[in-house]
Amino acid sequence: MKKILFVTSEVHPLIKTGGLADVAGSLPIALSELDQDIRIIVPKYYGIKLTEEPLYRSTIRINNRDVNIFETQLPNSHVIVWLVDCPEFFSIPGNPYTDEFGNAWSNSAEKFALFCRAAVEVAQNRAYLDWKADIVHCNDWQSGLVPALLTLEPLRPSTVFTIHNMAYQGIFPQETFHALGLPGQLWQPSALEYHNRLSFIKGGISCADHITTVSPNYALEIQTADFGYGLEGLLQHRRHDLNGIINGIDLEQWNPAIDKRIAQTYTVETLAKKTLNKTAIQQKLSLPEESSIPMIALISRLVEQKGIDLVIQCLENLVQYPLQFVLLGAGNKSYEHQLKNLSLLHPEKISVTIGYDEDFAHLIEAGADMFLMPSRFEPCGLNQMYSQRYGTLPIVRRTGGLADTVVDAMPDSIAQQTASGFVFDEASVSAMLEAIKRALFVYDNKKTWQKIQKIAMQKDFSWQQSAEQYLALYRTL
Ligand code: ADP
Ligand code: GLC
Repeated sequence: MKKILFVTSEVHPLIKTGGLADVAGSLPIALSELDQDIRIIVPKYYGIKLTEEPLYRSTIRINNRDVNIFETQLPNSHVIVWLVDCPEFFSIPGNPYTDEFGNAWSNSAEKFALFCRAAVEVAQNRAYLDWKADIVHCNDWQSGLVPALLTLEPLRPSTVFTIHNMAYQGIFPQETFHALGLPGQLWQPSALEYHNRLSFIKGGISCADHITTVSPNYALEIQTADFGYGLEGLLQHRRHDLNGIINGIDLEQWNPAIDKRIAQTYTVETLAKKTLNKTAIQQKLSLPEESSIPMIALISRLVEQKGIDLVIQCLENLVQYPLQFVLLGAGNKSYEHQLKNLSLLHPEKISVTIGYDEDFAHLIEAGADMFLMPSRFEPCGLNQMYSQRYGTLPIVRRTGGLADTVVDAMPDSIAQQTASGFVFDEASVSAMLEAIKRALFVYDNKKTWQKIQKIAMQKDFSWQQSAEQYLALYRTL
């Protein structure tokens, strides 16, 4: 049995901004079901949702600050979560990365450096928790200093660094390195220095014993200039210690047969009931109540990565077709504004909900017919998997994990019972429109549509296999 410390800046259902939280809330459970002793460590944010008072465990001194460690459990599991409490940094309204008005925190480096140091103290059994890690599994730049700091320890656990997104690197000026009081040995290109600046993600990529990313395809893509964001050379250099392990999904939470957040549960056998969820969406959004009209959905952070600009450009064209388009998301203010305007112009066809709403996200997955993900890059992507499980066929760009998890509906893939969605190549409005038109055409052929829905719903997206791959990796270290 391995003792694994899972270091993350978000974990569902305690705190979530995106897919990292979903992974951190489900992979550790899958590893604990493989009899591993896994503990999660996360900052104790202002907005953290705890169902019961956490247990105070200890206080450690970090950079002249008192940092408390509290303990709770991941709901519906026995996985222990350690909460790093430093009110000065974390007890402030907002999300892990931005203030309540959506502006990035100006002291992110200080916050996450303190969090990383706390994780090191816990891993090394210096936090009075009577537990020493064999493996420290870090995720994204917010935990990138951990593998770097651990290289300075004579007796240390092995380290794994998982890249969920290369576009966010945690880069700060050189002065920040000094202000954080980081050990001078780490100021070198083989550790934290990146063109004379401090790079948190480099700490993970240069110093971890092994690097993973969240799909096999993305593991190859990030070794190229288009996806490596300046670190492709380093990633090529480390290619023998780098591989992709596809994310799974939480099959309990995302299960149309038992989902309490949807209007009507359904299964492959009772697929006809799915449309009651469409009706519920139409009622909620005041869209015309038509059960047979195709409904295309999109739920996303509204950022460049997700190809939202393509969607905005294509909507005027799309409204010529008989369909309804339903979007739930938040992010870039200009995107929010343009989308809202389009919905005001075509209220009977386009509905835009700005905000973050988990309950509604489930209802949309259940009620829509198609789910659009025209991402420019997508390390893994979870919504295309949720969608398939709900029989809501994804229309995706062939990139990253989308390419690994959606099989394009073509005559031969339909015949071979593998087709599960619609895939297009180019990041262009015309390519996306072509794929949408293809989906609308197949939608009109109810028999074929249902056949693909059933294939999609029965695909195995469980964590089982991926958790086994992580465990096999830990054992090699
Ligand atoms: P990313 O992590 O890049 O945002 P993923 O597809 O991996 O993309 O995961 C996104 C997760 O966040 C999904 O669980 C999705 O349902 C959720 N999500 C994104 N935006 C919203 C929103 N506005 N309301 C509810 N859930 C959202
Ligand atoms: C990132 C990626 C997304 C991935 C998620 C979980 O946020 O953008 O593609 O699914 O992490 O690994």
